[in-house]
Amino acid sequence: MISLAISLLFCSLSVSRAQLIPAAFTFGDSTVDAGNNDYLKTIFRANFPPYGRDFDTKQPTGRFSNGRTPSDYLAALLGLPLALPYLDPSAKGQNIVTGVNFATGGSGYLSETGATLNVPGLDGQLQWFKSYTQNLVKIVGKANATNIISQGVYTLSTGSNDYVANYYVNPLVQEKYSRNAFRSLLLSSFTQFTKALYSLGARRIAVVSMAPLGCLPSMVTLYGKGSLSCVDFANRDARLFNRALNSTVTSIRASLKDIKLAYIDIYPLVEDVIKNPSKNGFEQTTTGCCGIGRLAVSILCNEHSIGTCSNASKYVFWDSFHPTSTMNQLIANTAFNQGIGQLL
Ligand SMILES: *[C@@H]1O[C@H](CO)[C@@H](O)[C@H](O)[C@H]1NC(C)=O
Ligand SMILES: *[C@@H]1O[C@H](CO)[C@@H](O)[C@H](O)[C@H]1NC(C)=O
Ligand SMILES: *[C@@H]1O[C@H](CO)[C@@H](O)[C@H](O)[C@H]1NC(C)=O
Repeated sequence: MISLAISLLFCSLSVSRAQLIPAAFTFGDSTVDAGNNDYLKTIFRANFPPYGRDFDTKQPTGRFSNGRTPSDYLAALLGLPLALPYLDPSAKGQNIVTGVNFATGGSGYLSETGATLNVPGLDGQLQWFKSYTQNLVKIVGKANATNIISQGVYTLSTGSNDYVANYYVNPLVQEKYSRNAFRSLLLSSFTQFTKALYSLGARRIAVVSMAPLGCLPSMVTLYGKGSLSCVDFANRDARLFNRALNSTVTSIRASLKDIKLAYIDIYPLVEDVIKNPSKNGFEQTTTGCCGIGRLAVSILCNEHSIGTCSNASKYVFWDSFHPTSTMNQLIANTAFNQGIGQLL
C-alpha cells in the first residue's frame, strides 16, 4: 500500500508536476531579478552586454548574471516556462498564469535598503503581487485563480544587500542598531512579508538563506585587507542570520494553518564550492569573470571592462557580487532538492 502510494507520487511528480505546481513566483533582490530594474528609474541595472551573453537568447535581459538565475532553473525543474518580470510590458494574459517575477535588484528585507537605488523592497513587491492576483481573476476566472495562487510556489531570496549595501556601509544604521537588533529587524520584516503573502492566498513558500557574504569578491576586495580569503565578520553575520531565520520559519509554520514553509539553506553549498572548487568543477572562486572581477558590478561590468573571461563556466562569480549561471544552476538544484518535499 505504502509503496503503491510512493510510486503514484513519483509518477505524478514526473508526469504531471505542472498540475501539482501550476505556477512559480519570485520575490527578492538581484540574485533572482529577471529584469524588473530595466523598467525602474534606477542606475542599478544589468541590461547591457556582457550580462546575458550565455542566456537562452544570448542577449542581456536585466538578469544580473551571464545566463539564467536560480529562479529560471527552478521554473525549468518544475516544468514551467521562465517567468517574466512583473514590469515587462508583455507580462499579461496567458503569459502570466504560470508565474511572475517580482524581484528588484538592490532591494533587501528592509525598504530602506533599496531606497538609495530607488527600487521597491518587499512591501512594494507585495503591492505588485496584490494587483497581479486581481488581474489573474480577470484572465482565468475566480476558481482557477484561487487554485494558481494557493498551489503555486513562492520563493524569496534576499537579505545580502541589507548587510552589504546598508549595515556595513552606513555608520548611522550601525549606531542605531546593534548587530542583534539589526538581525531581529530583518527577521520581523520576513515574518511580516510571509504573513501578508499568506493572507493573499499563498500556501507554498520557500525562503532562501544567506550565502557566505564574506566570500563575495566585492567583500573580499573591500574588507579583506589585501588577502584573498573570505571576510570572517560577514560570514558570521550570515550564519547567525540563517540560524535565526530557520527558527523564525519554524515558529511561523506553527502559527499559520495549512502553510507549507520551506527553509532552503544554500550556505553549505556555496561554502563547499569555494573551499573545494575542483571537486565541484570550478577553477576560479575569488574573482568574478567580468572585468578584473574585484569591484565590477552593474555599470562597472560592461562591454569595455578589460579582462572579462572568455568562458564563465569555470567561475563561481560572474561579477563581483553575482554568481555565474553555472553556479546558479547548482543553487537551484539544491533548492529544489531541499524544498520540494516540504512544499507538496
Ligand atoms: C479554468 O480551468 C478549467 C479547468 O479546471 C479550464 O477548463 C478553463 O479553461 C479555465 N479557464 C480559463 C479562463 O483559463
Ligand atoms: C532548522 O531547524 C530545525 C530545528 O528547529 C533543525 O532540525 C534543522 O536541521 C534546521 N535546518 C537547517 C538547514 O539548519
Ligand atoms: C566552457 O568550458 C566548459 C567546461 O570546461 C565547456 O564544456 C564549454 O564548451 C566551454 N564553452 C565555450 C564557449 O568555450
